[in-house]
Amino acid sequence: MATPVEEIKSRVDIVDFINEYTPLKAAGMNWKARCPFHNEKTPSFMVSRDRGSWHCFGCGRGGDVFTFIQEMEGLDFPEALRVLAKKAGVELRSFDRQEQSQKTKIIDALRWASNYWHEVLLKAHEAEAARKYLQSRGLTNDTIETWHIGYAPAGWEMTFAALRKKGLAEDDIFQAGLTIRKERGAGFYDRFRNRIMFPIGDVHGTIVGFSGRILESGEKSDQPVAAKYINSPQTIVYNKGAILFGLDQAKGDIKKLNEAILVEGQMDCIMSHQVGVTNVIASSGTALTLDQTKLLKRYTTNLVLAFDQDSAGAQAALRGVDQALQAEINVRIVRLPGKDPDEVIRRDPAVWSEAIKSGQPILEYYFTQATEGKDMTKVGEKKAAAKFLLPIIAKVGDQIEQTHYLQKLADVLHVTEEVLRRSLPAEKVLVQKNAAETPAVNRAPIVPDRYRAVSERVLAGLLMAPRLLPKISQQLAPEALKGADLQALYKNFIIWHTEDHSLNANGLAQHLASVDREQQDLFALLGLLADKEFSATSDTALEHEVDTMALTLRRESLQQDIRHIEQDIRRLERQGAGSGTELQPLLQRFQEVTQALRSLPDSI
Ligand code: UTP
Ligand code: MN
Repeated sequence: MATPVEEIKSRVDIVDFINEYTPLKAAGMNWKARCPFHNEKTPSFMVSRDRGSWHCFGCGRGGDVFTFIQEMEGLDFPEALRVLAKKAGVELRSFDRQEQSQKTKIIDALRWASNYWHEVLLKAHEAEAARKYLQSRGLTNDTIETWHIGYAPAGWEMTFAALRKKGLAEDDIFQAGLTIRKERGAGFYDRFRNRIMFPIGDVHGTIVGFSGRILESGEKSDQPVAAKYINSPQTIVYNKGAILFGLDQAKGDIKKLNEAILVEGQMDCIMSHQVGVTNVIASSGTALTLDQTKLLKRYTTNLVLAFDQDSAGAQAALRGVDQALQAEINVRIVRLPGKDPDEVIRRDPAVWSEAIKSGQPILEYYFTQATEGKDMTKVGEKKAAAKFLLPIIAKVGDQIEQTHYLQKLADVLHVTEEVLRRSLPAEKVLVQKNAAETPAVNRAPIVPDRYRAVSERVLAGLLMAPRLLPKISQQLAPEALKGADLQALYKNFIIWHTEDHSLNANGLAQHLASVDREQQDLFALLGLLADKEFSATSDTALEHEVDTMALTLRRESLQQDIRHIEQDIRRLERQGAGSGTELQPLLQRFQEVTQALRSLPDSI
């Protein structure tokens, strides 16, 4: 019987899976992308559907769908297993509690809490007011189901007691952020009491935290009310700045529509989904972070901001925009005909859809703000407008777009673009530096030296065009390649060719399968390299390059021979064996090799 891991691997298509994170393009039999783990201009990240594997020729990382999600999302193996099992619809029955990682225990606690609160909301007598409240806000039963909304009962230890009864450990419940430690003495009390509970899911829909709303309007100014929303604290599974509320539900449509709508509040987000505008996510009242923009960019590079129309909303919009512009996300901004999306939707869903469509490119919006109703012939007004707009333009990550807006500002101010460019804040430089720093996970490349690199490349070329093998094998001896593994593979290649003249690379794969595992892996790697390097190369260009590489390798190996012979000669001379009987064959060989080197053509 297949293990869960094998089962998952067979069910999850690695190309589809990785494509969700970084867009893949066909390259020969395989797929190619810019590596998501390090910064690069040209793609060196390859994915093989047949083998269910990936490899980056830039940073040297590689593996299967498990290692991919582990590296990408910073998961440990049990977590990766859980996420992928869910995706593949594979049940993990024999999962021992003892072996669960701390993260998994916390996620369990959160799920239990969520189920408990949801049940309470649907059934409990004490949740009557909560049900009424949600109804008054226009949430349907379907919506309450879909978002798994709940109610945390009043009282200090209701949730705690319910979870303890399920067999959860005090400490796990606490680490999950569900309880607060009492100040005096031991013990814990519930963090969320008498609140409507909104589960916060990560991109896979795993609950990682909660936001809990009080039942009152929350806007009574005459009395000191408790915070309108209480949120989960930072835990080992919940990092507020790395989560976008609703993304698990919205990601499909965001991708399909190639646009995401960002609102401030989870109520705004949920209401929008309820009326069928489903590419909506919420920032939960904070500025967009770098992590969030990265997350978003897996699905789209088009973002519409639909923030509250109060000043706090405008501030939030401003703060979030930096990150988005730097990340070269196209940002549009919506002016809402109402306080917030929730209010607009409740009045008329059609107005909400219209408002989204009418969103204005963010830079245009700022231009209007800076210049509307101002006299641009006055030097003071000019300076003010430039002072406001230049830092924003400086943040535009795309050079062409940045130039476009510099020109536009130059026109408005009647100055030259050069003047403006010189007064661009230094921030731009900072941005680029930060961008270069992001791949904190870089490793040494697998091709540290050129001799090895050319050896790999020539074999990749031969795999791409086996028809060249008869000719090349006449000129290039296996010993001329760098590395015993490559030499062995090349020998196998030649053996296979003399035994089976079909020159069909599948035949080689079968031949290697009978040899050994390492050779097979190397063959697979070189197959990826072949598609990466040569899938768009013409037959003649490839032949020319393989010939050239073969020549390079012959020269390199002859030079290496000469160095070795010279060393041997010197050693003998040092030992005083200058008589000749021992030295003679070395000198002879030296002659031959230098002769061979001289007779090599300069180029193909
Ligand atoms: P808002 O005050 O705009 O709330 O805060 P809202 O979404 O309109 O909520 P309703 O309609 O009154 O129910 C926007 C977001 O800021 C966060 C929450 O995530 C909220 O959705 N917030 C707000 C807090 O975390 N704490 C608060 O006290 C208030
Ligand atoms: Mn609201």
